[in-house]
Amino acid sequence: MKESEKVAAAVQYLTSLLPRTPELAVVLGSGLGGLADRIEDPVMIPYASVPGFPLSTAPGHAGRFVAGRLGDRYVLCMQGRFHYYEGHEMSAIALPVRVIKALGCRALVLTNAAGGVNWDFSVGDFMLITDHINFMGANPLRGENDDSIGPRFCDMSAVYTPALQQVARKAAADLGLVLREGVYLGYMGPSFETPAEIRAFRTLGADAVGMSTVPEAIAAAHCSLPVLGLSLITNMAAGMAGKRLSGEEVIEIADARGPVFQELVTRIVGML
Ligand code: HPA
Repeated sequence: MKESEKVAAAVQYLTSLLPRTPELAVVLGSGLGGLADRIEDPVMIPYASVPGFPLSTAPGHAGRFVAGRLGDRYVLCMQGRFHYYEGHEMSAIALPVRVIKALGCRALVLTNAAGGVNWDFSVGDFMLITDHINFMGANPLRGENDDSIGPRFCDMSAVYTPALQQVARKAAADLGLVLREGVYLGYMGPSFETPAEIRAFRTLGADAVGMSTVPEAIAAAHCSLPVLGLSLITNMAAGMAGKRLSGEEVIEIADARGPVFQELVTRIVGML
């Protein structure tokens, strides 16, 4: 089956359940899942029910679409996402992004929890993603290209849409929040990085490191879907804080800073 046919099957199913066309889509990373609770008149659609979608397994990720009103906007949230480390194919991670584009969303907001690599960052900081480094060793566009979705060789010069970055800066300033900026490096995981890897990544130009977002951003660039990326720095990366890393700590900080992060995303969505 061609990729566009898979997309069409999922879109047909989703549109049969959605009361209207979503304007924007938001992928909720760790700690941001609570944003879905702010949605009015929510329509919940488990990924498992969507034709062609795999099952999500990551802890702290619910695994469903939540559509509804967030302020003045009608949004489609992904409460939970597919990670490469879970064993999903890159194409399975790209599928929801293509579906979001085909549904008619005009922008995609990608959020995540990340480790701080930049020494100037602190735990709890928010970072606007200005660019990324794909260190996952895989690319969702590998294999046969469906020209009806996007070009074989996809330009990556401005994946994180400059106009959307401006909106995020304005929203953070309005809320009196410090918004760091930097380069997100995507790491396959699921093991955390070693201190030597983190030193290498800093030399390469990374400011934050995480295990998601990059495949989705590539898929979005491919289908010309404008992207905004936001990271919540849940920990300083390996070797930087003189202590061991744990998934529990990531979730703990994400939960603690989640409400403010949600406030920021809600504000941004209202301005898009
Ligand atoms: N490394 C990779 N992914 C992460 C981290 C980290 O330190 N923190 C949250 N997600």
